[in-house]
Amino acid sequence: MRLFVAIDLSDEARAAVAAEQKRLAAALGSRGSSPRWVKPAQLHLTLTFLGEVEEARGPAIVDALSERLAVPVFTIAFGGVGLFPPEGAPRVVWLGVARGARETIEAEREVAGRLERIGLSREARPFRPHLTLGRWRTSSPADRRRMPAGEETGEIASMPVTFVTLYESRLSPDGPTHTPLVRAGLTAEP
Ligand code: 2AM
Repeated sequence: MRLFVAIDLSDEARAAVAAEQKRLAAALGSRGSSPRWVKPAQLHLTLTFLGEVEEARGPAIVDALSERLAVPVFTIAFGGVGLFPPEGAPRVVWLGVARGARETIEAEREVAGRLERIGLSREARPFRPHLTLGRWRTSSPADRRRMPAGEETGEIASMPVTFVTLYESRLSPDGPTHTPLVRAGLTAEP
């Protein structure tokens, strides 16, 4: 099974981010190659990508994420358009975390720590919180210049983060389906 842990968007945040996807798509126009935009219903901020794990490990993973995280509920705000990788042909267009980045990183550490304790190794690359808006299948450096990345956008959306979700992702030719398996609540404010 293919698993990842993510922060879900509220309906309001989803609508605001979808509007930003539309704005960027319009700014890009029809020249060059456009990214495939993440469907609004599937927008999420990935904390940890576990990748393919044996089915038999599923219950232990669900168990590890059943208990509340020792991270207080916080507000996250998305803003600022960026591209991965930082140079050359772009692969991913994303929104940055304008507020709540420290808490997002704390949540990622706790999730990754719990998974490490049950024998799942941590991703080698450092965690850079971002909300993926779209991905290119094929692109060229010229596509980078057409994307209004690095511009000041202000806060596009903000919302409270009260839980994180373990998802199973099933790939198909029509795109992935994400099924929630368990939610770990954050710690409520006193
Ligand atoms: P990202 O592109 O938003 O960073 C489900 O596939 C989620 O896992 C994706 O939204 C993706 O997050 C994340 N992910 C991280 N590493 C991945 C990888 N090597 N392959 C596929 N998805 C990955």
